[in-house]
Amino acid sequence: MLGLATDIGIDLGTATSLVYVKGKGVVLNEPSVVALEQETSRVVAIGEEARRMLGRTPGNIVAVKPLRDGVIASFELTERMLRHFISKVCGRRMLFHPRVAVCVPSGITSVERRAVIDACLQAGARRCFLIEEPLAAAIGAGVDFSQPSGAMVVDIGGGTTDVAVLSMGQVVVSRSVRVAGNECDEAITRYVRTQFGVVIGERTAEEIKIEAGTAWPRSVRRSVEVRGRDLATGLPKTVTITSGQVHAAIKETLETIVHAVRAVLEQTPPELAADIIDKGIVLTGGGALLHGLERYLSQETGVAVHLVDDPVTCVVRGTGLALESLGSPQTRVSPFWPAGSTLGGSSP
Ligand SMILES: Nc1ncnc2c1ncn2[C@@H]1O[C@H](COP(=O)(O)OP(=O)(O)OP(=O)(O)O)[C@@H](O)[C@H]1O
Ligand SMILES: [Mg+2]
Repeated sequence: MLGLATDIGIDLGTATSLVYVKGKGVVLNEPSVVALEQETSRVVAIGEEARRMLGRTPGNIVAVKPLRDGVIASFELTERMLRHFISKVCGRRMLFHPRVAVCVPSGITSVERRAVIDACLQAGARRCFLIEEPLAAAIGAGVDFSQPSGAMVVDIGGGTTDVAVLSMGQVVVSRSVRVAGNECDEAITRYVRTQFGVVIGERTAEEIKIEAGTAWPRSVRRSVEVRGRDLATGLPKTVTITSGQVHAAIKETLETIVHAVRAVLEQTPPELAADIIDKGIVLTGGGALLHGLERYLSQETGVAVHLVDDPVTCVVRGTGLALESLGSPQTRVSPFWPAGSTLGGSSP
């Protein structure tokens, strides 16, 4: 439980939600999942506990992801989840309402932004700030983008890939595509269904990707045994899938990501592009952990690619750090807060 004058940073991710507390670091890292009783819509579990129920629940309980493709699919459940995470780190009684910074994908609409702010305020936040994912990622990665020099950040999450070129504290060119880690899992599910006639679950597909997946076509990793349901007989069946087959399954998804990076590079003013060639691309997000991705992206773009340390917590650390630099309420809001993003505060 936390004491006075708390500041917390939240990365509201499609796959994972993380909370960073000023002075304490990352204190919460749980899947963005809510389990509900179907008839009554009563929430039975949130986070890790709810994730264990995904695909394994009895008929009357459903496990849902309130955020899909990096946007809010269910406002009500997002609000419940935020409230749960905030009260988990701040304590139920919440004597001191925290200032909360939330990282959002750059592609979300103003209505969706407003929904995130409202959810935080309803969850007990004193003030709520939003920060765009590429800026948070850059701050978390320790990239100095305050100077007139270009830096490129690529964040590959569960639902979205955010590509941005930053300079002088701002986003110069960016693109957000709703294709990232989850899309790879879905591609693997389709592949196993068409090639082997076996139906597998979401979690199994993710495990296949992590264990055997690769973005580098010529690398041979390991084969994995996959358990699913045979489409023809309806009975359980085990098949073996090789890393080459996983690569074939996710190839198109990876091409979409490369396409987004290239498109941003093409729109980047030449001086900034030259800086990026010097410094390389900074790669963050859990999806960036895919085997061989650094090498593949580098080959496809002709620019060096550096995977940050601990890519999963990079964004939330950056979100928290951004809040720290806000300092006292009197301090001028830092330049990396996009105009209009600080609406919704009830009091300073
Ligand atoms: N070792 C790994 N290899 C490949 N993929 C991985 C690995 N570890 C995690 N992932 C993938 O990373 C993705 C989640 O990344 P992250 O936690 O950054 O997403 P998010 O922030 O919740 O999503 P978004 O930013 O799109 O809202 C998932 O698709 C997961 O399968
Ligand atoms: Mg993310």
